[in-house]
Amino acid sequence: MNNYFITQKPFSIHNRKNSRLIDFANKGLRFLKTGLHIKQQDTSVDMNTVEQRINYYHLLSSVITFDIPGDVVELGCFTGQCAILFQKVIEQHTSNKQLHLFDSFHVPFTFKGDVEEELKQNFSRANLKQPIIHKGNFKDTLPSQLPDEIAFVHIDCGFGGDKMEHRDVLLHCFESIYPRMTKNAICVLMDYYDPQENAQGIDINPGVKLAFDIFFKDKPEQITALFGEMYNHAYFRKK
Ligand SMILES: C[S@@+](CC[C@H](N)C(=O)[O-])C[C@H]1O[C@@H](n2cnc3c(N)ncnc32)[C@H](O)[C@@H]1O
Repeated sequence: MNNYFITQKPFSIHNRKNSRLIDFANKGLRFLKTGLHIKQQDTSVDMNTVEQRINYYHLLSSVITFDIPGDVVELGCFTGQCAILFQKVIEQHTSNKQLHLFDSFHVPFTFKGDVEEELKQNFSRANLKQPIIHKGNFKDTLPSQLPDEIAFVHIDCGFGGDKMEHRDVLLHCFESIYPRMTKNAICVLMDYYDPQENAQGIDINPGVKLAFDIFFKDKPEQITALFGEMYNHAYFRKK
């Protein structure tokens, strides 16, 4: 079975079982035939939803299958919940694309352990090739360390902080990746939320859409909202 990232949560040393209380409550809800089910979400570990993982799988598979030139990049990798999925897809396709991960590994909340170390362990325990890690603030790393050609990029650098600060980080990301994205390359924007397009979920990082609207005002690319259940995301394809 080779689709663990869709049918199960991404591999993580922090994966833990539902609390007994929730399991008990779910049993009761089933017994009463309510049709309800409580899902336990830990936002310091559960970085994506099953719907989003399906979207990532098909979008990354498509750039590999259509031989779009360039490497795979993630801006904001944390412990690698999305990144291990990207590397898995690369390896399933026996592609020679490299996975480049950019992160400061400084998180604005208490985290038990070392984020970069956990990322590496998650790759090892999933039996995946280690990614190329670019540690540091995007301001310092992106100008000189991005690959010359990018086929697929995931931007996921929000933690629900100040929206203008986040907008400016996103603008810097767009300025850095856009010229390197090859024709038909794909960029997925975590947390892009448009109340007209996204049927549900919350606008957790409004800076993403603010930055997109500024940077792409005079560009031909169109944004497409994707269904991600409780988390939102969207993508554009480079013209
Ligand atoms: C929501 S987490 C990413 C989750 C990740 N994609 C996953 O699948 O687990 C956001 C990450 O962006 C990083 N980040 C945010 N702003 C940054 C910046 N300016 N430079 C470098 N890293 C940054 C944080 O360190 C954090 O690890």
